[in-house]
Amino acid sequence: MTTDTAAQAAYVVAALLFILSLAGLSQHKTSRSGVVWGIAGMVVALAATVGLASRSISATGLVLIVVATALGAGIGLWRARVVEMTGMPELIAIMHSLVGLAATFVGWNGYLDVDAELSGSLLGIHHAEVFIGVFIGAVTFTGSVVAYLKLSARINSRPLTLPGKHVLNIGALVAFVGLTIAFVARPSMGLLIAVTVIALALGAHLVASIGGGDMPVVVSMLNSYSGWAAAASGFLLANNLLIVTGALVGSSGAYLSYIMCKAMNRSFISVIAGGFGTPAATADEGEQGEHREISAEETAELLGNATSVIITPGYGMAVAQAQYPVAELARKLRDRGVEVRFGIHPVAGRLPGHMNVLLAEANVPYDIVLEMDEINDDFAATSVVLVIGANDTVNPAATDNPSSPIAGMPVLHVWEAANVVVFKRSMAAGYAGVQNPLFFRENTQMLFGDARQRVEDILRGLDSLDAPVPEMAGTSR
Ligand code: TAP
Repeated sequence: MTTDTAAQAAYVVAALLFILSLAGLSQHKTSRSGVVWGIAGMVVALAATVGLASRSISATGLVLIVVATALGAGIGLWRARVVEMTGMPELIAIMHSLVGLAATFVGWNGYLDVDAELSGSLLGIHHAEVFIGVFIGAVTFTGSVVAYLKLSARINSRPLTLPGKHVLNIGALVAFVGLTIAFVARPSMGLLIAVTVIALALGAHLVASIGGGDMPVVVSMLNSYSGWAAAASGFLLANNLLIVTGALVGSSGAYLSYIMCKAMNRSFISVIAGGFGTPAATADEGEQGEHREISAEETAELLGNATSVIITPGYGMAVAQAQYPVAELARKLRDRGVEVRFGIHPVAGRLPGHMNVLLAEANVPYDIVLEMDEINDDFAATSVVLVIGANDTVNPAATDNPSSPIAGMPVLHVWEAANVVVFKRSMAAGYAGVQNPLFFRENTQMLFGDARQRVEDILRGLDSLDAPVPEMAGTSR
């Protein structure tokens, strides 16, 4: 068997391992094995690629590849070990930016180092691949960097609204098509520089134009772009595995974005086009009124008198690492005969399934953790809702205020319950930067402080309640 045949066979094995990995990652129970399949696939892919490369490069080149691989793997391991769960989206965004940057470099290399055997239409196809690869790579690069900056709160998450922003985006796309035709007809470095600059600006502008509430879709969209960028590099490098893997990442990322758009009642096309077609939200939040506060002891009493409780966790629960005392609170209340369930919004937290992962980590039984659609009709018959570090996902402005930046996004109808207790540290807005009228409703009380500490205070408060479980509190809305 030649090295080439062995490498192609290894590529098929790696591609199958990647498909197994995706299948494993689609469910909580199998997600760990999904990660293992993915690692195995990557090891096979790396070994086969280095084996293939070893035929045509010098010993120094091989040493450089090994050093680069070790360095990259070392940095990757270190980042993965130290990253907090809440920092995962920005880590993913910055990783996508590296894929985009690599695709841009591969494209440029394809222009500077053209295979001498290519001629005629094959050369034209090669140049089209170079141009498209550089374009997708550069859009992915700056788009991901801006997403990283927004997700890590280094820049404001509010949408950038330049005058004529859609004309700018469409103009950039039209320029790209025109420049591609020109480049295929007569390749030149000037045209390649022009498309690189346009794509870098377009990527930054597309993501900067997206509001905070739509960032989850943007992250999975960038995931998809990074896949297509890798596939474009695969064509340039004539590497079948890169084409297959890029297409897997590209299509699964696009499908995830589509599912998230549906869950958030957003137009897929509008989000990928930088908010195209969505009316400019005014964020006119009007007069909000007074809020009321409640102490942990009073909350414990309220819970002690409740018959049904729904807990809606959000990003703040992840920040406070409050899932363990929250799980303990659910267990204690259930022991007292209270019906306890969790209501999970599809984009609560900062990554898909964030809350489910945290609750599973704290051993909350799966059967009391319900999705938004499964629980939204039950709030009206609930004694107490505990909103633990959630904000945008429980904001009634999404349903009541058509001028709100999050208008139309489905939210948990927590305000329909008899009593709502909101755990947060201040009156600050949530991720989308929108004030929340829930905090000023008559049946809402604010429990200020770190969510973990407040839940621990409530646990102590419950311990000191000696009364047996009474009937549901006759509290008003
Ligand atoms: P957010 O709207 O982000 O609000 C979280 C709240 O938690 C904040 O208002 C904050 O208020 C509070 N908080 C922070 N640390 C806390 C602590 N230690 N103790 C108590 N409270 C704390 O949360 P959400 O409802 O989960 O919504 C998620 C948002 O993130 C959505 O806008 C979504 O679109 C966006 N997003 C989601 C994803 C995915 S895929 N899930 C990815 C990117 C962005 P204080 O500062 O006053 O405490």
